Amino acid sequence: MVRITIDGLDFEVPKGTTVLEAARRNGFEIPTLCYHEALEPIGSCRLCLVELGGGEKGEVVSSCTHPVEKDGLVVYTESPAVLQARKMNLSLLLARCPGVKCLQDLAYSWWVDSTALPVLGDYEKECILCGRCVRVCREAIGKEAISFTFRGVDRQVLPPFKQQPDDCIGCTACAYVCPTGAVKVTEEEGRRFIAPWKSDLPLYFCDSCEAPVTTIENSASLEEKIQETGLPPGSMRPSFKTGEREPEGTGSDPEINADEEMLCPRCRRRRVTESIARLPREKQDRSWIKARQGYK
Ligand code: SF4
Ligand code: FES
Repeated sequence: MVRITIDGLDFEVPKGTTVLEAARRNGFEIPTLCYHEALEPIGSCRLCLVELGGGEKGEVVSSCTHPVEKDGLVVYTESPAVLQARKMNLSLLLARCPGVKCLQDLAYSWWVDSTALPVLGDYEKECILCGRCVRVCREAIGKEAISFTFRGVDRQVLPPFKQQPDDCIGCTACAYVCPTGAVKVTEEEGRRFIAPWKSDLPLYFCDSCEAPVTTIENSASLEEKIQETGLPPGSMRPSFKTGEREPEGTGSDPEINADEEMLCPRCRRRRVTESIARLPREKQDRSWIKARQGYK
C-alpha cells in the first residue's frame, strides 16, 4: 500500500492504482469519457485532469493514466488550473460534437458555457474519438475490426478501406462501451447491422421463443473463449447446434441436449431448470446451476 493525499485528505491505496481509481474509490468526483474500467487507459479526452503537487510546481496530468507508485503523492482534483483546463477541453469537445447528450450533461455539471467556442463540427456528429470501441474490439474481443484513420480534424474511427470489416463478429461490444451512442445496432430480417462500420451479419433464432439470439460468428467466438477459460462447455454459449450431449452429472437432461435445439439464454436456462427439477435432489449439481445462471 502507498499513501496519497487527495484534496487535503490522506488515504492508503494499493501500489500501482491510478490516481483516478484512487480518487473515485474514496468518493471524489472526476469526469471521464475515454476511460473504461475494463480497458487500458489512453488519456485522450483530457477531462480527468488533476494537479499533482500544487503551487508553482504543480503539474496537471490525466489521472486515468497516472499510477500511484510511491508514498506522498499530493493530488488536487479541483484546483483552478485543473478546472480551467478541464473546462477548455470540454468546450473543445462540445465545439466538435455539439449535439452529443453526454457532453451537454457534463457541460451542465461542470459549469461550462457551451457557446464559449464557435461550433466546429455538426449536430449529427456523435463520435468524440474516445477510442473505447477500438480498444474493446482489440483488447477484450481480440479482433481489429476498426481503427483510427486520418489525422487532425479528419480523424475518424473506421473499418479498413471503409468496407464491412472481415474481423467483425457482430458482438456489439463497441456499441456497449461507446459513451455517446455513435455506434448504432439494428436487427432486421434475421440480420444484425452495425453502423457506422457497415457490418451486416446473420443472426440465429431461438427454437423455442423465436427471439433473435446473436450472430453465428459471435457465438463461435464465445465458444473459443470458453475453451481458453476452462469454464464448463456451454456455460456461456447460447445453446449452439452441435448435437453434443452434456457431460455426465451436469444436472441437465441428456435427451433435451441431444435433440439439437438452438435456444436463447432465457429459454436454455428455463429448459435446464425444468430438467433439473425433474431429477432426484441427490443428483442435482448446484455448482452447475450457478454456472448457468451466470449467463444472461
Ligand atoms: S464511436 Fe463511440 S466509442 Fe468509438 S471513438 Fe467514437 S465515441 Fe468513442
Ligand atoms: S478519462 Fe482520462 S483522459 Fe479521458
